Amino acid sequence: MEELIERAARDLVNSSYSIVLTGAGMSTESGIPDFRGPSGIWTKNPEAERRAYETYHKFLADPKEYWVERLGSPSLLGDLTTMAPNPGHSALAELEKQGILKTVITQNIDNLHQRAGSKDVLDYHGNAFKLRCKDCSTRYGLEEYDLKRLWEEGKLPPFCRHCGGVVKSDIVHFREPIPSDVAHQSLEEAWRCDLMLVCGTSAVVYPFAELPRIARQRSVDKAGQTYSAVMIIEVNAEPTPLTEAGISDYLIQGKTGEILPKIVGAVGRMKG
Ligand code: APR
Repeated sequence: MEELIERAARDLVNSSYSIVLTGAGMSTESGIPDFRGPSGIWTKNPEAERRAYETYHKFLADPKEYWVERLGSPSLLGDLTTMAPNPGHSALAELEKQGILKTVITQNIDNLHQRAGSKDVLDYHGNAFKLRCKDCSTRYGLEEYDLKRLWEEGKLPPFCRHCGGVVKSDIVHFREPIPSDVAHQSLEEAWRCDLMLVCGTSAVVYPFAELPRIARQRSVDKAGQTYSAVMIIEVNAEPTPLTEAGISDYLIQGKTGEILPKIVGAVGRMKG
């Protein structure tokens, strides 16, 4: 393990454009359950997963009912306002501050990367603290609409102040297209990076799980030899399809909240 941590630190220090992809495993040490791990939400409640596949179509069919259900039932992830970033989030923010990490592309809706101080974050599956217009994709902070009062006054759904379209949660539900701005920027980062950290994700949900595969396709020619243009390093509690398919160069198996701070420590020693 220590050897792999040293290796990852060296690869980061030698990289010119590193990015990180993250999933629910980043936030389990903050008290937010993941989905497909041993005590994951879907693992323990397959019925809830089945219902989650219907949410977006429910919104399209009846936005008012979608909001009544959203405001009337507790989040599967618990009360995110009470959760705090863990040392894994802080380590990534520190690597950004040092200029090593350029972008965080996260599947998490919990806003914990931003709360840990990461500045350049792409919320690939949306953000639970934001709203988004279905038509023009304008985003709003949750606090910009008094959703409870709209509910009490029977004035749901909320409407966009920019185009008049219906406003939904910014969360990207199953079967909902990834917002084009985030999808486009994420692809650009996958094409641009020379190192991709992949942390706390089972890497089975698409199109996000395509990003490491897109990066892996890139190659560079040096002295007549062709090399992969990107180093892909996984930090996860268990191997994933990326490990098994040889998409990643190596896996550091364990907890992100323990391993990422150690990598930052090793980077600090190397940079002196
Ligand atoms: N450190 C490292 N890895 C961890 C930790 C931890 N502290 N805790 C859990 N893991 C690993 C699990 O073993 C699992 O491999 O993180 C992975 C989490 O995978 P998933 O639960 O599938 O979460 P994720 O990959 O983010 O899911 C993708 O699916 O349900 C949808 O929209 C939801 O964004 C989510 C998407």
